[in-house]
Amino acid sequence: MPLTYAFIEYGGPDVQRFLDVPAPEPGEGEVLVEVRAAGVNPVDWKVREGMHRAFLPLRLPATLGREVAGTVVRTGPGVVGLAAGDRVFGSTVGGSGGYAELALLPAAKAARMPDGLSFTDAAALPIAAGTAYESLAELGLAPGQRLLILGAGGGVGTIAVQLAAMDGVAVVGTASAAKRAFLQSLGATAMAYDRDDVADRLRDLLPAGADAVLDLVGGDALSGVAGVITERTRVTTVADEEIAARFGARSLKRTGGTGTLPALAELVAAGKLDPCVGRVFPLAEAAEALALVESGHVSGKVVLDVAGRR
Ligand SMILES: NC(=O)c1ccc[n+]([C@@H]2O[C@H](COP(=O)([O-])OP(=O)(O)OC[C@H]3O[C@@H](n4cnc5c(N)ncnc54)[C@H](OP(=O)(O)O)[C@@H]3O)[C@@H](O)[C@H]2O)c1
Repeated sequence: MPLTYAFIEYGGPDVQRFLDVPAPEPGEGEVLVEVRAAGVNPVDWKVREGMHRAFLPLRLPATLGREVAGTVVRTGPGVVGLAAGDRVFGSTVGGSGGYAELALLPAAKAARMPDGLSFTDAAALPIAAGTAYESLAELGLAPGQRLLILGAGGGVGTIAVQLAAMDGVAVVGTASAAKRAFLQSLGATAMAYDRDDVADRLRDLLPAGADAVLDLVGGDALSGVAGVITERTRVTTVADEEIAARFGARSLKRTGGTGTLPALAELVAAGKLDPCVGRVFPLAEAAEALALVESGHVSGKVVLDVAGRR
């Protein structure tokens, strides 16, 4: 039976287990995928903790993880355009996790992998890079405008920095001091939230304020930069709706549009976008991978190599 890494009840890391479960059957519009790599995201531990149970009710045990890259094994009824053997990536069907040898994907949202894109890089894209891409699309900045990204050194931030810089946007990104050189290499002016006097330094860097703020941290990190948020500053958050609301921020609503993943895949395959995969763990070390993400201080993206299996 295929292996999954699941949580048996809502709670902390002690509710996580490896389980052998029957292979899932693809339903209407779904494809069954042999997972080669799976992305690890903060949402994984938030779902395990039960923070999303009101809008994502799950039957337990539930497999962890929400995004994979792999090979189609079987297609469910009504699927057109995908067949066994196709290399695809995308977000999993609600309730079918990614930390597993087999996962279900909605066919309509699964994207084909172009030549030159590895499974590891593809698995890093659906959630974090997809969020960065759609956040920037929503902010709609023009070349020369100034964007402040809070939490620029993680999964979403490293992609947002690169995409914005590619469009000629001037990016200032906050991260811990250890990530300063890394962020600068991606195209941002880096600001160390644990070293610099952020409020003062921001006023020097952005005397007229920021045209936009992309908040990936929330809390004090967002209230601490109030000095560069003016009437015309657009603020988008994916981290803290409550504090962001004070600044008239919009919470990103992912469009789930079919164009996002192919666009990102082409950029990576062409060598124009670095998916910034900082650590790859075998599936057997899923607990360590998730603990690293749960620490809240990763560099870039964490991915599970599922081809290595047990
Ligand atoms: N709503 C959605 O659709 C959606 C989608 C994706 C993600 N999210 C949320 O967005 C947030 C970020 O996601 P992610 O995948 O980028 O997380 P991540 O990969 O864990 O990265 C978080 C980054 O924030 C940095 N950080 C922590 N405290 C900070 C502070 N006070 N100031 C600046 N940086 C700080 C961390 O490292 P350092 O402290 O070392 O710099 C780390 O690099 C999470 O809350 C996640 O759940 C929401």
